[in-house]
Amino acid sequence: MSETYAPPDQRERWGSRLGLILAMAGNAVGLGNFLRFPNQAVNNGGGSFMLAYFISLLLLGIPLMWIEWGIGRRGGALGYSTGPGMLQSLTRARWVRYAGALGIAMPLIIVIFYVYLESWTLGYAVQAVTGNLDAGASAAHFEEYTRLGNGGFLGSASLQGSWSAYGFFMVTALVNLWVLSRGLSKGIEMAAKIGMPILILAAVGLVARTLTLPDFEGRSAVDGLAIYWQPEWRQLFSAGAAGIWLAAAGQIFFTLSVGSGAINTYASYLTEDDDIALTGLATVSTNEFCEVILGGTLAIPAAYLFLGTQGVEDAASSSLGLAFIAMPQVFENMGFGSGAEAGGLAVAVFGGLWFGLLFLAGITSSLALSQPAMAWLQDAMGLTRRKAALVIGGLIILCVQPVILLPGVLGEFDYWAGTFGLVLFSTLEVILLMWVFGSKRAWAEIHKGADIRIPAVFRLIMTWITPLALLGMLGWWGFTQAWPILTLEVDSGGGAWGPGVLESQRGNIMLARWLMIGIVLLFVVLVAVAARRGHFRRLEEDRYE
Ligand code: PHE
Repeated sequence: MSETYAPPDQRERWGSRLGLILAMAGNAVGLGNFLRFPNQAVNNGGGSFMLAYFISLLLLGIPLMWIEWGIGRRGGALGYSTGPGMLQSLTRARWVRYAGALGIAMPLIIVIFYVYLESWTLGYAVQAVTGNLDAGASAAHFEEYTRLGNGGFLGSASLQGSWSAYGFFMVTALVNLWVLSRGLSKGIEMAAKIGMPILILAAVGLVARTLTLPDFEGRSAVDGLAIYWQPEWRQLFSAGAAGIWLAAAGQIFFTLSVGSGAINTYASYLTEDDDIALTGLATVSTNEFCEVILGGTLAIPAAYLFLGTQGVEDAASSSLGLAFIAMPQVFENMGFGSGAEAGGLAVAVFGGLWFGLLFLAGITSSLALSQPAMAWLQDAMGLTRRKAALVIGGLIILCVQPVILLPGVLGEFDYWAGTFGLVLFSTLEVILLMWVFGSKRAWAEIHKGADIRIPAVFRLIMTWITPLALLGMLGWWGFTQAWPILTLEVDSGGGAWGPGVLESQRGNIMLARWLMIGIVLLFVVLVAVAARRGHFRRLEEDRYE
């Protein structure tokens, strides 16, 4: 069974299939692949984590990828690029359009802190290449860069941030805006076509150097691979394993960009009979290659070689320590030859490659995170592309202030939008598509124009296992985590607060929560406004239901 939809209006389109694949891969491949992944793996049992990770990839990641491409392409064919219209088209229930606002608000909340982290990588790349990254004092350097240690920012001890962090943030935000304002194929697609090949080459170069390094104090990089990636089943079924499973599933969501609305919007620029079965899988494969093969072979084995197991664990104990503190120390030893000069050159070359590739990975993702809001402002609010870019830029620059200045805000954004929200929104999507719209129609929808047939077992997985696993996760969270986390009894990792942390951050955390509620409400209100202006009228006809 195959349905056809109304002729699309004047929508933007991807320029070429290669461009589309690179843009989608750019969307998925991001800081998550190179920073978050090794960190999560080391902190959650290495090889055991990897098993849970691959199971989550098969049961949640790949199914959700197809589901989001399906919802997105169908939405686009009906003339909608974002959550409200896309989800509304799957059901008669009116509230769904408001829930769809999450597919705009969430990526926007993520991009606010994401662009800030992305700007650190630009700052570090510039400092590395210009010889201003002191690898020997990398911990102090990080402290100085991110929070201007003594006295605090602008002389207030309760504020963090530094002028260079501020400056690089502004540059990064402006580059993002400029690309967005050039539009889909001249902006986003072009950035991916240039950025993705360079980032992959840079990563391959770094991997090659890492694996050919001579042994150091009796350790080799390959030993590091064995230590951290050795699979271990038993631990996964032990009492404390829930944390490993959640971390693994959370990483799959974040790294594949599923559950935020960003994939849906990119998929809405396909034409109705473009393949999604194979192309969606190609995106997943590219992402996994960049994450497991490149990301997994970079930071951890290199850090193990020079710093040993203790060094790796110390570095991974803070979420960004591995990338920004340990890696500069590692690069110093990666040169050809010894002495301060060789070390300095190595930091410039390898540090430049590392932070440069992180920046490229970051920007192709932050563009994707901004696009749902861009599309909404243009399609539903009638703004021109330039105006939309200015509004989004203004919002990001405004809302990033607490992220930069107040400790605790970034983590709160990351937890609610970057972890919890992704599970919430995916649950909604999979239920609407597979249960409400119906698995038979969904399967036919996904196979329209398909270059491969998806193995039938995935229909079973997508209809039952994916939604039930998601509901199970939400239910478990609701019963055991929701209350203590909401009332700040425990931190968002579910653990005890560090000494003095809660006292100094309580206000900041509450501010972050109100800010997020405000952003979500803003888009809910805008959906209501758009509805009154007839934005969803096309969907009231029966044949789209
Ligand atoms: N997948 C991106 C990364 O790994 C982050 C991202 C999440 C991008 C959600 C878009 C949507 O860094």
